[in-house]
Amino acid sequence: MEPKVNKERVIEALNSALEKELAAMVRYLHHSFIVIGPGRGPLVQLFRSLATDSMTHSIQIGEKITALGGHPSVKMEEIDEPGDQTLEEMLKEDLEMEKNHIEMYERHLKEFEKDLILKLMYEQIILEEVSHYENLEMYLRDYQPQPVHAR
Ligand SMILES: [Fe+2]
Ligand SMILES: [Fe+2]
Repeated sequence: MEPKVNKERVIEALNSALEKELAAMVRYLHHSFIVIGPGRGPLVQLFRSLATDSMTHSIQIGEKITALGGHPSVKMEEIDEPGDQTLEEMLKEDLEMEKNHIEMYERHLKEFEKDLILKLMYEQIILEEVSHYENLEMYLRDYQPQPVHAR
């Protein structure tokens, strides 16, 4: 189905999203490898499942690029490599990245909303990105100073 918007521009936007999703997948895998400490078990699962979700988004977007007659990128967005990181640093970095993805997909949704199929695709991806964001934010709440209750 031909999109009701400029196809070249859609392919360009999808490729920039693909490069971000591929980088997110690698970054989450990396975090799953380097996280240490007594809480490692569930955190490895958290990072691996976020990596899987980023791969699912990459697949969805890559398939769409080819379907539209474009060529999916093999490049990915540059990944910061600060070396060893605390869990808090990893979670904050990932939260920032999710925010960045939500903003990008919201921009793309606005730009292409005249095309129903693209609109539905972006809405579904945005819902998932927001749930990633909210989940990471809840993990990070542990690190906020807790109010001390006066007795
Ligand atoms: Fe994603
Ligand atoms: Fe995400």
